[in-house]
Amino acid sequence: MGSNSTREAAVLKTRILPVNTNDLGVFKDKATLEEWDVPTKTENLKPLQEAAKELKTSSIPVGFPTETVYGLGADATRSEAVKGIYKAKGRPSDNPLIIHVCDLTMLRSLLGKNESAADPIPEIYRDLIKKFWPGPLTILLPNPTPRVLAPEVTAGLETFGARMPDSPLALSLIKLAGVPLAAPSANASTKPSPTTAEHVRHDLDGKIELILDGGACQVGVESTVVDGLCDPPVLLRPGGLSIDRIKECAGWENVVKGYKDQSELGSKAPRAPGMKYKHYSPKAKVILYENTSQTSLTGLPLEARRAILQKDNSSPIPTIGIVSTRNWVKWAGFNARGARNSDDVSVVTLSDLDEPLEGTSCQLEFGKLIWAGNLSKATINHVANLIGISLGNDTKDIAHGLFSALRELDKRNVDVIYVEGIDDEGDIAAAVMNRLRKAASVIENS
Ligand code: TXA
Ligand code: MG
Repeated sequence: MGSNSTREAAVLKTRILPVNTNDLGVFKDKATLEEWDVPTKTENLKPLQEAAKELKTSSIPVGFPTETVYGLGADATRSEAVKGIYKAKGRPSDNPLIIHVCDLTMLRSLLGKNESAADPIPEIYRDLIKKFWPGPLTILLPNPTPRVLAPEVTAGLETFGARMPDSPLALSLIKLAGVPLAAPSANASTKPSPTTAEHVRHDLDGKIELILDGGACQVGVESTVVDGLCDPPVLLRPGGLSIDRIKECAGWENVVKGYKDQSELGSKAPRAPGMKYKHYSPKAKVILYENTSQTSLTGLPLEARRAILQKDNSSPIPTIGIVSTRNWVKWAGFNARGARNSDDVSVVTLSDLDEPLEGTSCQLEFGKLIWAGNLSKATINHVANLIGISLGNDTKDIAHGLFSALRELDKRNVDVIYVEGIDDEGDIAAAVMNRLRKAASVIENS
């Protein structure tokens, strides 16, 4: 017992290994995806070889980038290795993990023989794989007996989720390890998913040994998860591939949505405490504004601004984070002057401390919120500190920067984060809004 608990308490030395992502590998034949080929001679593979050795020999998972988010990988065929993931993340083990394969040869090795067809990969997935692999799409497959995958991967289900990431770094790591990698997002349980190696270190420092650093993830939200084993096929999690693209594939014209968002559960009121901070959540309270495009709302509603402006000044000055997307003007309306009622007058003074937001093309903007109060008395109060991040217009940019923005504001200890939502029809906006609704403790339908 004594020696065991000492081991439990041991803190690992976490290292980030930078990877030069040039020339890490190619498909022998891009048309078949049959075999991923790793070059024999390149210095660039060194850190991957070190990580692959760790994956084969130890039970401590490795952080690595994919095109969606950073993953926390382990040998999916070894129970001890898979348990290491749950331990490092602090994630309950009743949640199935996604299996990452480097090519179709590896995927077939997990499927066993299908007596009724030449190919063990179900026909329903053929078109999807052809169009969208490698890429941000996870498909459910039957888990054959005898089992190849460790039971901890599937959480007791008869199916497993698999994907082929669109990242030469990830594909070569899998190939060098020689086994499929089970990999959830590499965040501490309940936190926003990591899109840079630094995010992974922030959450898992001391809990893992290696993080491969391949730069910021392109997509920024996790893969789309689909189940084609039932009729009609179901979309289980919106993600980096849109439902519209999936509908274009043979057999997927009638795909149905199998997940529910907070908005559809009819919640405007604050959620039950038990539902708070379950997923993708920073420490700060997130207040999400939906449907801003429909009302052409240019910033926070007056009441919301007023509540902050009229805050009792004796308490410490709060820091407010603002994440804007398509319509909110700078400072979400806090710098709107000229209201009739003098109580509404607010002014933002900008500091010249703008900083880049890591892994994105966004800037963090710093401001002080000054309330002139009752103008006749000319009282000037410093009411709040503001930190603004504008993710831009384009859905891809919004998805790419979203988790980074939430994490950055957390790092700066903001007390509350106001987020401008987007219309979630079509494209990957559905994934953005799904994650935001899970992160939010209050959803306003403005
Ligand atoms: O983009 C991604 O998918 C990232 C990167 C690292 O590849 N991975 C990821 O994995 O998000 P994870 O473990 O956080 O997501 C697992 C989710 C489950 O919550 C569930 O929604 C679905 O995938 N899933 C996996 N296996 C399943 C199964 N057998 N049946 C139903 N859903 C499954
Ligand atoms: Mg996750």
